Amino acid sequence: MVAMPKILEILQKDHEQHDLLLSILEKQVKDAHLRGEPDYDVVSEIVDYFLTYPAEFHHVREDQIYEKILARDPQAAEEIGQIEEEHKACEAFIKAFAGALASVLGTGIVTRSQFANAALEFIESQRRHIRMEESIFFPTALRVLKQEDWRDLDDHLSDRADPIFGSQREAQFETLRQEILDWQSAREPANDRFPAGQEMSV
Ligand SMILES: [Fe+2]
Repeated sequence: MVAMPKILEILQKDHEQHDLLLSILEKQVKDAHLRGEPDYDVVSEIVDYFLTYPAEFHHVREDQIYEKILARDPQAAEEIGQIEEEHKACEAFIKAFAGALASVLGTGIVTRSQFANAALEFIESQRRHIRMEESIFFPTALRVLKQEDWRDLDDHLSDRADPIFGSQREAQFETLRQEILDWQSAREPANDRFPAGQEMSV
């Protein structure tokens, strides 16, 4: 069996982790009525995360794969659609949501229900995007790209690790990290909270 390219392993792991963060955000928004409002520290850290790592690293890596598909098989690339445009749209969604968060915390021009709607729109847009990449983009890449393409992509991987789940964890996500541990301990057996290599110590 041919080993999964490292870049694709990283991207699929990113997707799992993004989905987890989206679920935590969704629960914060949907359960807000129980406490009066979401935990804005958790929400702010999720926003800060999506403003940085996916935009600056995850999407860049996917764009590199797309360029290789385009060079090998323009028809296949056309069937996937415009990945770079998709990523710009993702980044516009998170910026709009960040604006709604800043407003609800600051000027109050955005009401809480408008904020909740902005959050749910952001969540849905991200989930739709991840579903498309998992069901169309990645399988097409595996079909079209040659071993030398994957080798080249893996050889040029930046060493930037995920700032929440990776080996270079950043202190600014500490509240969110605790929320993730609470979320996982409520849903999974204690010995299986993190996939292999992803254990977090807090
Ligand atoms: Fe992605």
